[in-house]
Amino acid sequence: MTPHEYARMEADGALERLLEFLRIPSVSAVADHAADVRRAAEWVAARARRAGFPEVRVDDTPGHPVVFARWQVAPDAPTVLVYGHYDVQPADPLELWRTPPFEPVVRDGAIVARGASDDKGQLLAHIEAVAAYHEVAGAPPVNVVLVVEGEEEVGSPSLAAWLRRHRRSLSADAALISDTAMAGPGRPSLVVGLRGLAYMEITVRGPNRDLHSGQFGGAVRNPASALCAILASLHDAEGRVAVPGFYDRVRALSAAERAEMARLQGDDHAFLEAAGAAADWGEAGYSRVERLGARPTLDVNGLWSGWTGEGAKTVLPARASAKVSMRLVPDQDPDEIGRLFSAFVRRLAPSGVDVDVSALHGARPAVADRDTPAMRAAAAALHQAFGTAPVFTREGGSIPVVALLETELGLGSVLMGFGLPDDNLHAPNEKFDVDNYQRGIQASIAFLEAFARGGRSG
Ligand code: BES
Ligand code: MN
Ligand code: MN
Repeated sequence: MTPHEYARMEADGALERLLEFLRIPSVSAVADHAADVRRAAEWVAARARRAGFPEVRVDDTPGHPVVFARWQVAPDAPTVLVYGHYDVQPADPLELWRTPPFEPVVRDGAIVARGASDDKGQLLAHIEAVAAYHEVAGAPPVNVVLVVEGEEEVGSPSLAAWLRRHRRSLSADAALISDTAMAGPGRPSLVVGLRGLAYMEITVRGPNRDLHSGQFGGAVRNPASALCAILASLHDAEGRVAVPGFYDRVRALSAAERAEMARLQGDDHAFLEAAGAAADWGEAGYSRVERLGARPTLDVNGLWSGWTGEGAKTVLPARASAKVSMRLVPDQDPDEIGRLFSAFVRRLAPSGVDVDVSALHGARPAVADRDTPAMRAAAAALHQAFGTAPVFTREGGSIPVVALLETELGLGSVLMGFGLPDDNLHAPNEKFDVDNYQRGIQASIAFLEAFARGGRSG
């Protein structure tokens, strides 16, 4: 029996194991869930042990644990580092879920639960692939290092230090990550660009307490209005980000890159429908695919001040706050962009209020080299598992580890995602196609096979 045949025979078991994993509410952002997050780490470690990994650890960090597993099959065989994250986003708003987020069900061919696609299902596909080799051949055909973190959804604050500390046991020829989406159903993709992130918070303080808006309104500066004026100045009329210096390090797109993205454009109507939005918006002069994958952007993520309860309260609020994030592209640097943003926002502050700006977290953008042994192995594996060759895409989202692996370990990543664009990541009714899960397992097996043949980097 081949590992492929074994995995097909074990398909129901693999599904059951994923459902069990999904029942653990490992929400990294919420302190009350810390014990659940640890339970998820222990679950991954136990699964890795049963899949045959001889060396498995759960490492404590200042935040949530990192699961490390290693299977050294031969010193001269190539080594792949498989990364995933076992933490998930909060499930709110709960009332919009058709079934409870941590009681997974299979509905219309998809597993519905928080974390199904991001990233528990995609991650587990690789452990199932190793398990299939374990059962059939005794061991995988390449050395495998598994790194599974529990803080990806909060910006991976502990990961750089952990990677540095364990550098020696992490040496590998390539990283393999499944935490992205395919181009569409039946259309596998290799993601060759991810955006970075600079996440900021602005607080505007005015009077030392909330004031009666009749007694004081019109006589002192209103922090909520001041904040709105600041936020309104962050874009120009053409949809460009107005922060001075913001575009200075942005790499221009080549004609070939623009032509490739033009081929990926797809149906505008379907895009707007998927977004539930009425109209297209964005930076003038760039297509939607370019704006989402290869151009930097700025969004207000949250906004609060004054009276937001039922009915009316005539108040001049003492303070107003906003969360603002910027998606970055090569060669923007999150720290530098944060500084430019802070300086600009403070300069926009009108008299009569104090403006504070702080950075919450950041990630560097990444672009992958398409011409590597690991990329070729992944392309062949996707072709085999999905029956069609993958396209190269750039995604708008961020995965902090990709740039960290590059800077800390000099390691390039292959982003071989099994999700679909409408999997409802971070949203109610997150789902993961059952067929993509099973094909993901097959693709992972095929990757290990192909990488064994041609995976050793110089
Ligand atoms: N898996 C996603 C990133 C992603 C989603 C990439 C879809 C490509 C397509 C990841 O878990 C995520 O949500 N990342 C955060 C990063 C952040 C919290 C530092 C993001 O992009 O907002
Ligand atoms: Mn993810
Ligand atoms: Mn996510």
